[in-house]
Amino acid sequence: MRKRLPGRKLLFDPRPKARREDLYDFDAELEKLLRALGEPMVLVSGLRRTGKTSLVLTALNESGLPYVYVDLREGFTSTRELYALLSRSLSEFAERASRWRRAGELLLKLLSRVRGVSIMGFQVSVSWSPRERPLVSELFAALDELGERLGSKVVVVLDEFQRSRGSVGAALHSAIAHSYDFHANLSFVLTGSEMGVLYGILRNPENPLYGRAYVEVRTRKLSREESVDFLERGFAELGVEVGRGELERAAEELGGVIGWLTYYGYLRASGRGDLERVVGEAVELARSELENFLATRVSRRYRIALKLLAQGVREWGRLKRALEDAEGRELSDRVLHEILHQLRSHSIVDEENNFTDPIARRAALQL
Ligand SMILES: Nc1ncnc2c1ncn2[C@@H]1O[C@H](COP(=O)(O)OP(=O)(O)OP(=O)(O)O)[C@@H](O)[C@H]1O
Ligand SMILES: [Mg+2]
Repeated sequence: MRKRLPGRKLLFDPRPKARREDLYDFDAELEKLLRALGEPMVLVSGLRRTGKTSLVLTALNESGLPYVYVDLREGFTSTRELYALLSRSLSEFAERASRWRRAGELLLKLLSRVRGVSIMGFQVSVSWSPRERPLVSELFAALDELGERLGSKVVVVLDEFQRSRGSVGAALHSAIAHSYDFHANLSFVLTGSEMGVLYGILRNPENPLYGRAYVEVRTRKLSREESVDFLERGFAELGVEVGRGELERAAEELGGVIGWLTYYGYLRASGRGDLERVVGEAVELARSELENFLATRVSRRYRIALKLLAQGVREWGRLKRALEDAEGRELSDRVLHEILHQLRSHSIVDEENNFTDPIARRAALQL
């Protein structure tokens, strides 16, 4: 029997949710984010697939504030790519804003005054040619003025912010730092992993954004009971029957990560895949993230430590001896201290040296 209200999204809809009635739980996180919107800088952090984008889109829709949404997931390595991305995001904003006639018209008028910006219909095109391209902060200035004229904050969302790297990323960070200081009508919402955004950018003394205050909202993992409840409701909506035993196994293996639960429900209900497949894909993703983490470190030691921890070796003495065996020499305590400290500060393991995510543990076994 279908229990869905008309117009509501299914719980197992694989796209990000964008409305309160589509969101399972996360009321406290949503309230916190709604209160924070409008602050100069807000960080929405959490492990992958824990509902960051859904939370942000829902809060924006609830708030009714005008917003530009920039998806950095694909990353960018050149000015050209960054400007193409900004053009797309501004065009999409212009189209959305056109629903409120005045905001749309005003936005296009203000943008058209920025050098290097041309407008056709709702298409905003920002030139990347070195001769005429505007600074990113000139684009932000136009958005700030829009906010001033509308008497409202304008939110600039930078989703997957940790993907902004290299010299072009640094230019973007500088532009945000400048806006933070001078554009009182802008509110930046940055999302991403705690490890990338927090440690790589906001708490990195070499980054232009370092030292600026922000409000942090974290997404969380569902408890075992919540996971089972989520799956039960999702399957009930679709009229698909799945045994309690399988639901509990899924809850256990997927570690309360709502994105994996959704994906499993989606595949299972349509008969196109099962738990094994979802776990396999999740492990693959987690492994590539661990590889990224290793790429910036003395990776041999970390690799060994991660593997041992994944096998359940958690005591100091055994870990140290195994590392020494692998290197064929004695190591100082500091080496292991540093490794464990790093793994904890990146939320890979907790204070007891247990993996925080069962999927990441499986991935580490394959390193
Ligand atoms: N509160 C929620 N209720 C129901 N489904 C949700 C909820 N939050 C997320 N989802 C589902 O989980 C999946 C992942 O959500 P979302 O893309 O928002 O997470 P994310 O943290 O931004 O992921 P990524 O790390 O890939 O960027 C999507 O399929 C989405 O529909
Ligand atoms: Mg996301």
